[in-house]
Order: sequence, then C-alpha cells, then structure tokens
Amino acid sequence: MAGSKSDSFSGRQFVLKELERIRSAGLERRIEDVSASDKPGYCVVRGRPVLDFCSNDYLGLSRHPEVIRSLGDTARESGCGAGASRLMSGSRRVHSLLEMATANLKNHQDAMLFGSGYLANTGIIPAICGRKDAVFSDRLNHASIIDGIRLSGARHFRYRHLDLSHLEELLVRERKKYRRALVVTESVFSMDGDIADIPALISLAESCDAMLMVDEAHATGVFGAIGEGVAGRDMAHRVDVITGTYGKALGSYGAYAVMSGELKRLLASTCRTFIYSTALPPPVAAAALTGLEIAVREEGLRKRLLGLASFLRQMLFDTCGLETCGASQIVPVMCGDNRRAVELQQHLFEQGFYARAIRPPTVPEGTARIRLSVTVNHGRDELERLVETVRSWMRSEG
Ligand SMILES: Cc1ncc(COP(=O)(O)O)c(C=O)c1O
Repeated sequence: MAGSKSDSFSGRQFVLKELERIRSAGLERRIEDVSASDKPGYCVVRGRPVLDFCSNDYLGLSRHPEVIRSLGDTARESGCGAGASRLMSGSRRVHSLLEMATANLKNHQDAMLFGSGYLANTGIIPAICGRKDAVFSDRLNHASIIDGIRLSGARHFRYRHLDLSHLEELLVRERKKYRRALVVTESVFSMDGDIADIPALISLAESCDAMLMVDEAHATGVFGAIGEGVAGRDMAHRVDVITGTYGKALGSYGAYAVMSGELKRLLASTCRTFIYSTALPPPVAAAALTGLEIAVREEGLRKRLLGLASFLRQMLFDTCGLETCGASQIVPVMCGDNRRAVELQQHLFEQGFYARAIRPPTVPEGTARIRLSVTVNHGRDELERLVETVRSWMRSEG
C-alpha cells in the first residue's frame, strides 16, 4: 500500500537533511555520463575528450575486437539474458567453459561464477561463517568484504593494514574462542595499490587453523606469469577461496571464486547470492572468456602496464616529492582533506585529465585522495603531463 501523505513528507525531509549533511561534509557523489572516445586512453565527459585515469580496464580489453566479436556472436546464437539462475534453467555451456578456464588460470580445482565481485564477496563469507565464527580482515578491505562479514554475523576483527604481526597477535589471542576462523584480504588494494604478502598469509592461516580468502579483483590479468594474480599458481591451491572480477583487467563483467570442488558443491547449495540471482548473460560470459584467453597469452600487455605504473610513481616522487606505496597499476595521490581532493580533481579535469577524488567512507577519514588508474592505453608523455599538472596545482596551493 502506498504511504500516507505525512509519511512521504517526513521521508522527503529526511532525504533533504541527509543530502545537506553529505554535501556540507564535502562527501556528495554525483553520477556522470561518460562516453567512449575513439582515441585510446580517452573518454568523453561533459562533451570534452579527457584522458581517463578512472577506468579499471587496465589491459584495454573491453574494446578488443576479439572480445567484442565473441560477445556479439554469442548474443546472436543464444540471446542476451540467461533468463534464470544457474540452478534453474540459466546454466549454459559458456558458463562451465569460463569456470574451467578460470580454475586453470589459477591452478585451483574449481571455479564458480557470480553476477559481480560484490555479490561474490557478500555471498561467500556468510556461506562459510556464522555467529559462532570469527573473521580477521585487513582494515582497508573493500566494502563488499566488509558487507559480507556483516551479513555473516561472525565476530569481526580488523587487523592493521598489511600488518601480519597484528594479525598473528589477534589470531593467537582469539582463534580458540571461535568454532571457525577466516582470514580475508585483498591482494592488490583497490584504493592504495599496495600488495599483501600472500605466502606469509598462507603460512599464518595454516598455522592458526584459519581459512583464507583472497580478493584478486585488481590483480587478475595484471600480476603473475599468465595473469593469474598475486597468489601464484604454485600456491593458489593453499588459499581456500580466491575471488576476482571479469569487469576490470579482463574487460567484461561478472566475477568468479576459485576453490576446491567440495567447497563449490557446498556453495551451490548454501550461497545465497549464487542461488537467488540470475546467471551471467551468456554473451558477457563469452566476452569474459575471450578476455581471459587474451590476458593469458599477452604477457607484453602486463609488462607494459606495470612499466608505465612504475614510471608514474617515479615521476610523482621526482617531480612532486610524492611517495606512493606499492608497485601496482593503482597509484594514489594523497590529499588528506576531502575538499583538497575535490579541488585537485577539478584542476585535473580543467587540464584534460579525468581522475576522481576518493573520499570517506571509501577510504579512512583524513585520507582523501585522487586515485590514478594506469592502463596500457596511456603514453609516457601523457603521464609526464599529468604529473606536471599535479605539480602546478601543488605550487598554486603555496
Ligand atoms: C577489491 C574489490 N573487490 C570487489 C569488487 C567488486 O567487484 P565488481 O565490480 O565486479 O562488483 C571491487 C570493485 O570495485 C574491488 O575493488
């Protein structure tokens, strides 16, 4: 039944008050139409071509002719949507092929597809942990991991970012009080670009009888000899669950989790975001499969990407004195204050660069930043111009 007039009035008051609170804290987010540009590395915003430093299409595969062809061919053959969940009539051959290719990429036993990385993380954690369990999570983990932990009802212990001594201390003190323990981390951190020590995490989790889950959203296709990620093919089988997405370096959409065949069987019967959600559209799964195959064979793209990222980091240090942690394609320019970050975003846009200010709650209070996402479509000269623009903004601040 529709709400009464007075309900909708108080509802409107709430919306306006909240909007004002968010706006005055410098935290309002706005959706903006961005169109593709013919020029590699560029996008068109407010009618203007700008160099795109927001995209996670790190290898440029979303516009690769083979990826586009496979999407189109599959759509013509089998239609657009799957029409049902995998457990109803939505499961197609292309889903199984993508699962097999993903398990092979990671050298793990099996894989399971999800509608998105967000759905993978929010579905899997509650399927393996409950109220009697504890989850030990890096304090900078992605929102989808945090939400998965909240949904699980498990006790949530946050360890200091990348601080494995702190994790060990917590595990030693708390592990025995709980039925099961899960340690969860990203491999390449989405907003900081630094990288977790996966071999050390594996040893620690094993020694403390904890399960380990690693989110390779930003590492898949980018790290490892064939793009398998940070959890190398020789050790991936010692990680209980590895999640990742097809929507970033692999150029398509959707997500995966690799795991043992037994765990997959369990999740097929218990993981709510898998059971109660329509299967990935077959054309999208086909595009993801082609993207994965290209990423595997094109080692040169990975090398180019990481070379460009390290060039950018070095330039930011040499020219602007800015230190950036990590060695990945994600390069944060720390601003601290929310308004400074928005000002730098605006300055960059005026000079032809599209890079967004990242503010709380995506990152901790006082650590607002511009997140620069390097892709293979950037040139060194463009990175130099970008750094020069950051420098001119720093100078104008005094
Ligand atoms: C670390 C991490 N995990 C999961 C996700 C969610 O993936 P998806 O975009 O496929 O929902 C993201 C994406 O933003 C991410 O950065």
